[in-house]
Amino acid sequence: MKTSVMSERLNLVKLQEGLRTRLFGRSVFFSEEVASTNEWAKKLASQGAREGWVAIAGTQTHGRGRLDREWISPLGGLWFSLILRPKRRLTKPANLTFVASLAVAETLHEQYGLRTQTKWPNDVLVNERKICGIFGEASTLGKKINTFVLGIGINANFDAERVFPESIRAMTTSLETELNRRIQLEELFIRLLEKLEATYLHYTKRGFSSILKQWKKYADFLGQRVEVTDRNEKVTGLAFDVDKDGALILLQDDGACKHVFAGDVSLRTK
Ligand code: BTN
Repeated sequence: MKTSVMSERLNLVKLQEGLRTRLFGRSVFFSEEVASTNEWAKKLASQGAREGWVAIAGTQTHGRGRLDREWISPLGGLWFSLILRPKRRLTKPANLTFVASLAVAETLHEQYGLRTQTKWPNDVLVNERKICGIFGEASTLGKKINTFVLGIGINANFDAERVFPESIRAMTTSLETELNRRIQLEELFIRLLEKLEATYLHYTKRGFSSILKQWKKYADFLGQRVEVTDRNEKVTGLAFDVDKDGALILLQDDGACKHVFAGDVSLRTK
């Protein structure tokens, strides 16, 4: 195998080589290091960046996740943000994160044969451990979403055991850890952008229900006992289903049925 194939560093030319998309990744902004690609993409969007443009970095010094959490982003990971400007009146931006997690789950499965799982609301796991996080941020104009920045982080070419602190080590993994080898990051990026564009177009034409149906095929947590935590309370119950709006349907121990909406909740399978 050539050294370049094993390299942790991204090669800008290779990020677009053979890319078969109409819009996604047609413009790619690359930096060795940024604070957060989401912040960078939001700035680019405010300066007029078009749908499909991407900000990607080798490392992030202040990578961010949901619930204002830090996202550890060492060299060797795939850290990027995609700018979307949905034309339809889309009142549920959270749907777009389902589009993204489905695309990631399918890509990692198809490219590397991994048995990927989607975990509500928008994580992708392998062997019950998180391999990818997705952080979508919408800016609205009236009721219509003006811009949606879709931040995707995939733990790729680094040893998860070595990189992550003790507190999250048991819950996280990486492609290198799962495959016992390094992958070509640029190729993963290209295949993922192709899948993202196809899944996004499918969503805009056919609607959310069709995406959700596919997403559920990977949702192994359904039917399991889970604990849902928001800032103030913990609720346990059976993860029964995800409703047509993307809310988790939780059958609580007292028999009550709760629809939990994405935003300020995290979910731990028990
Ligand atoms: C989460 O699981 O909480 C979401 C994590 C999302 C991380 C990605 S990495 C690229 C983009 N830039 C960021 O600062 N965050 C997202």
